[in-house]
Amino acid sequence: MQTFYLSLLLMVSSSASSSSMDVVIIVAAPPHAFHNDTALTNHLDSAITLRLYCLYHRKTDVLTEKFRRAQLSADPVNTHTWSSLLRKLRTVRAISRGCNSEVVRAGHTQMRGTFFVTLQLLAIASCAPVYSFVGDPTNTAALSAAQLKAKNFVAQLTLSEKVNISTGVGWAFGLCVGNTPNVSRLNFTGLCLQDSPTGVRFADHASAFPAGLNAAQTWDVNLAYERALAMGDEFRKKGVHVALSPMMNMGRVAAGGRNWEGFGADPFLTSMMAVESVRGIQDNGVVATAKHYIANEQENMRTVSSSNIDDRTLHEFYALPFLYSVRAGVQAIMCSYNLVNNTYACENDHTINTVLKGQFGFKGYVMSDWAATHSTLPSIRGGLDMTMPGDKTFDSGDSYFGDTLIGLAGNDSTLLPRIEDMAERIMTPYFLFGQDTNFPPVTINSFHPELAPYNPVGGDHADIIRRVGAESHVLLKNTAGALPLTSNPSDFTHLYDFALYGLDAGGPLHGPNYDGCGDHGCVDGTVAQGWGSGTSNFPHLVSPLEAIQTRVKNNNQTLTWNVQCDWSPQKAINSARISGVALVFVHANSGEEYINVDGNVGDRNNLTLWNNGDELIRSVASVNPNTIVIIHAPGPVIMTEWIDHPNVTAVLFAGLPGQETGNALVDVLFGDVNPSAKLVFTVAKQRSDYGMDVQYAYPLKENEYAQINYNEGTLVDYRWFDAFNVTPQFPFGFGLSYTTFRYSNLRVRFLNFERQLTAGKINALPTVNLNTNDTSTPILNVTFTLENIGNYSGKEVAQLYISLPDGCGAPVKILKGFTKVFVLAKSSVTVTIPLYNLDFASWDTAAQAWLQYQGNYTIRVGTHSRDPNFLSSSLQFGSSPVPNLSRYVPTTSSTFTTSATQSTATASATDTRSAPPTASIYGSGAESIVAGLLVFVMALMMM
Ligand code: BGC
Repeated sequence: MQTFYLSLLLMVSSSASSSSMDVVIIVAAPPHAFHNDTALTNHLDSAITLRLYCLYHRKTDVLTEKFRRAQLSADPVNTHTWSSLLRKLRTVRAISRGCNSEVVRAGHTQMRGTFFVTLQLLAIASCAPVYSFVGDPTNTAALSAAQLKAKNFVAQLTLSEKVNISTGVGWAFGLCVGNTPNVSRLNFTGLCLQDSPTGVRFADHASAFPAGLNAAQTWDVNLAYERALAMGDEFRKKGVHVALSPMMNMGRVAAGGRNWEGFGADPFLTSMMAVESVRGIQDNGVVATAKHYIANEQENMRTVSSSNIDDRTLHEFYALPFLYSVRAGVQAIMCSYNLVNNTYACENDHTINTVLKGQFGFKGYVMSDWAATHSTLPSIRGGLDMTMPGDKTFDSGDSYFGDTLIGLAGNDSTLLPRIEDMAERIMTPYFLFGQDTNFPPVTINSFHPELAPYNPVGGDHADIIRRVGAESHVLLKNTAGALPLTSNPSDFTHLYDFALYGLDAGGPLHGPNYDGCGDHGCVDGTVAQGWGSGTSNFPHLVSPLEAIQTRVKNNNQTLTWNVQCDWSPQKAINSARISGVALVFVHANSGEEYINVDGNVGDRNNLTLWNNGDELIRSVASVNPNTIVIIHAPGPVIMTEWIDHPNVTAVLFAGLPGQETGNALVDVLFGDVNPSAKLVFTVAKQRSDYGMDVQYAYPLKENEYAQINYNEGTLVDYRWFDAFNVTPQFPFGFGLSYTTFRYSNLRVRFLNFERQLTAGKINALPTVNLNTNDTSTPILNVTFTLENIGNYSGKEVAQLYISLPDGCGAPVKILKGFTKVFVLAKSSVTVTIPLYNLDFASWDTAAQAWLQYQGNYTIRVGTHSRDPNFLSSSLQFGSSPVPNLSRYVPTTSSTFTTSATQSTATASATDTRSAPPTASIYGSGAESIVAGLLVFVMALMMM
């Protein structure tokens, strides 16, 4: 068999090299068919650096179509297969080193029940060089090489050049929102730093991606990676060296203005999403920026307030996503506007030097948020490496770094090592990611967009935007089979099959990028992004009205609408009465402090719907027995006025889905996509249930700072509701499907437990496997059966919560694992979620270490954070439950007991953490070869 593949390979290689046309061959085979053959393996290994750019851009669209139609139609598992394959292709592309070799191989597998399919993709193509080199930031050898280059580079600079590496050129003085000066004699063009977490800000012919909130609502780490990879691709092609993304604030207060940019109110979920976002961006050779460090949880008084926070809360809650990002190799971190414990976040020795650079081992650079630097020496001693945009305040023309620092260093040579450290930290990722060779020129112009050269970069990203959009619509209510909507015209006897109501259904009256209030501050149509620096221009905006109308037309159904009835709901009533289904679109919005929308200074002033939404819903529901509510919002809204109305038959929380919002909605409404999204925050019955809230602005005296005390510790969102036994409207993690899942057969299987725990203490860095080279393993696997007992195939987000021993000062339960699994109708799969040492640990302030305590740990697995049918298993660390929190030091294996049965099962599902994008599980050779021949024949037919 190996000989067969070798001949095939060589044959195709030689034919390709003599051909001017792209040739793509897909061969399916088990990887061991290659691995044992040295000649072939060598050939493949040297060739794995690819031609994938050519493949991806010239062929995959065709392939996608053919696969969808010919082989994979109507079967979501297979659509998923193909999307995963695409992801793998893009991954290989991202680690490519050019186009000199002739063969591409990408391994791929997909579980289908117990049947595994392996595809080996060989691509032979001719193409122009793409990315010169993208180093792996988690590879220490690559990092050391880049650090050395940076050192050599900085050694050639004068003092003022060294300082200027760290100093932005000043607000609005360059093409990007942040720019550093060039050093032309060394061919360094300076750096372009650009927002945002939803795409390239101020750019034309680029995409407007779904918000971070939506990425998180998919609970799908693969989709999160794909989203970031596509976004990073656009940043790179526009010449952006440093993307100011992802944003990972924690949503401490439900009304927080920028919550939609981040990933919800749980630090573990946020961490997983942050990791994928960092990897996706940086796999393009673009620096990702984890922001905002730290405790920047509200917009009101953001520059004049101190977030007062204890050390344990800092580590276990707010800093956790930054720790994971560092482990994923993030190269830049942005410190925030606020003070932390009464020291500015950008000169905070404890949070930057001790925690971030010390305990977390962060080797990249810390940049200030825009005008968040307040000093020179305290800042550089506190750990700040770069001041942005450079001037003290916007347009002030002077800087805390720049000439000020040059002057100080001229008189004090002891400052030099730190100045060099700052410059080296900034230049290291530049060399690590090969930005010194063939990096595209900047083709955005933030302050004069009309002067930007034409450079379209959107590619086929509408596809991933739509998929993230559809997989992030959370179905909150669905009674009497209201959804999915029927596509059959004869199912209705009404004058109109469908009616749409609300401003939020239609396209914005002033266009999607109306700049009347700047940065999407005032939107007069469907809300698909919040406002502020987290925005990106819409290349187009497919509104719900447009997408539904297209669908209805294709179905030969009828539709009416009134998008201007928000403030006169009576106008909706007549047509609602004579419509089969009434779809009511409502919204809320929020954003960044510098734009005040109707008195909302970034943060929302209330949690109710905007534009009279509650009354609109009630009015329509008063006459139409099939009223379906679609909510576009940056976070939770209070629903008590209408949620239990019997005529409100279905509710979808759509978040902020970006440019394809209408298409994504239609996919879910009409059942092309079975909803699988889950809430990433709790929906409360009333605002006060959240426990903590925004501290709204009040007059401060000079040099006075508002004190925002995080007295709740880590009891944010569901942890607060658990602690005080408050019943939510919808719990964290909640979301319905068109099918029903049943959980059973929970087992815990121990792995390496003794070896991992012998020290009894976990060092500052977790043993979590975030690194492709990291050989650390989980300490146990939690396995269970997931059964789809309904009639629709679909995906379920299984969630795992851990309760620490009583008396540990920990929340009732904490999310520590999740996985999104596809299950065919009427079938079941075995699912495994791995757990790591850190998952059982608490941050001990006295010891300044992660510790595990002896006592009883409970593991719960279920469909949301308040699942009444949670499966649970109890684990005992130590010989007996010991409430005094003494540290657990295991002696013999008998000291570790559990109430769960040990399992020998080995089936698995998505590992939400270990999964380096290239990891695969391979099936049996025989199955794969059969599949291979089929795919091979198909591939030949496509040529
Ligand atoms: C925001 C940052 C953003 C920066 C540059 C600030 O106002 O807080 O998130 O990256 O502006 O636009």
